[in-house]
Amino acid sequence: MTYEEYYQEYYPLLKETEEKLVNLVKEYPLHNTVGEYEPVLYCKSRIKTPKSMIGKLQRRGLLTDKDTAMREMHDAVGIRVICSFADNVYQVADWLCGREEFEVENRKDYMSYPKPNGYRSLHLILKVRTDSGDILWAEIQLRTIAIDFWAALEHQIKYKHEIRHEKVIRDELKRCADEIASVDMSMQTIRDMIREE
Ligand code: GTP
Ligand code: MG
Repeated sequence: MTYEEYYQEYYPLLKETEEKLVNLVKEYPLHNTVGEYEPVLYCKSRIKTPKSMIGKLQRRGLLTDKDTAMREMHDAVGIRVICSFADNVYQVADWLCGREEFEVENRKDYMSYPKPNGYRSLHLILKVRTDSGDILWAEIQLRTIAIDFWAALEHQIKYKHEIRHEKVIRDELKRCADEIASVDMSMQTIRDMIREE
């Protein structure tokens, strides 16, 4: 099933929302870059595929039609903001929270409160108004580039039904997540020391 076949009249609204948010994130460095490095390295975005949306609705025991998806699911539009340093994540998030373009319905701080598996990121759940006046849910995830590397690998075990050496893999991933968080802090400290030169 194509995006248009599933989302129908919502599809252009989803595209509009995705584009709006990506353009907004791109504005951040224009106003806030201090010094030599980019606080936002890059930004990725996606509309949730019909297959993945239907699967998620089924897992939650909900109807799988587009209206239920648009009403109940917060991540049909997903933006991922990749930052250099951990403090950039908070700076960009705080800046985004002050925008007029949307309302922040929820802020999930897995940076300060990591998940048991080691996952770290800052999530903003938004209600965005389209040009036509419709209100759409969207999710912005912000994280460091080092954590993004980890999350991409960790994500792969979600698609595996049976994992050999599962305990070892999960333990190693947790250890790596904690080490990455520690390296992120060291990198930030080194950056600050260089700045003071
Ligand atoms: P879903 O996890 O999407 O069902 O929603 P939720 O309401 O449980 O929210 P949560 O904050 O747990 O996750 C939202 C999104 O963040 C997910 O769809 C993933 O993209 C990402 N995410 C959350 N937890 C993890 C994790 O442990 N590992 C990875 N790789 N990504 C995660
Ligand atoms: Mg979850």
